[in-house]
Amino acid sequence: MVNRAGLDHVGSLTTGDAAATREAARRLGELCAGGEAILLAGDLGAGKTCFAQGLAQGLGVDAAVAVTSPTFTLHAEYPGRLTFNHADLYRLRAAGELDAVGVPELLYAPGAVLAVEWPGLLLEQAGGEALLVELEHAGGDGRRLTIRAAGTGHRKLAAAWLARVADGAGSGV
Ligand SMILES: Nc1ncnc2c1ncn2[C@@H]1O[C@H](COP(=O)(O)OP(=O)(O)O)[C@@H](O)[C@H]1O
Ligand SMILES: [Mg+2]
Repeated sequence: MVNRAGLDHVGSLTTGDAAATREAARRLGELCAGGEAILLAGDLGAGKTCFAQGLAQGLGVDAAVAVTSPTFTLHAEYPGRLTFNHADLYRLRAAGELDAVGVPELLYAPGAVLAVEWPGLLLEQAGGEALLVELEHAGGDGRRLTIRAAGTGHRKLAAAWLARVADGAGSGV
């Protein structure tokens, strides 16, 4: 599906607080057209779910709907301009279990965007396209987001997104 070795570094950005991470993610969501795979890596509390919340807003998910970490359900689906599929693979122990979450069907589904927290098992699979966001603590509420991408479409998306976030530097992102 996605091979870490095939992911090229596209750029990075730093957010000063949770709202800035949500705003950056919202802009990525707005650029999505369907079929994207957004992988969210980072330690517990790094901001993966926070990022997913912003992504949901950018995909037109009703702001009144709470997007939470689907750690126990493994997958949640939210209607929007594009369907938002949110998966959390933290509890998976083996790549074979990806089928149980329905990941093969969720990946690259037209009209939908898949975001995956704890994507390690997915990254061990060969081939595929994805945009990987690695979140790390950067002092206080700061977070450093390192963006990598594989595949032409996802590379273009990542570059367009970073350009857009840079344009909005005055908004605190
Ligand atoms: N810059 C930031 N970006 C994202 N979250 C932040 C930031 N600063 C503080 N936070 C806080 O860190 C926590 C991140 O939690 P969460 O998104 O659930 O992490 P994860 O899903 O990676 O375990 C939230 O409580 C959020 O408010
Ligand atoms: Mg989470």
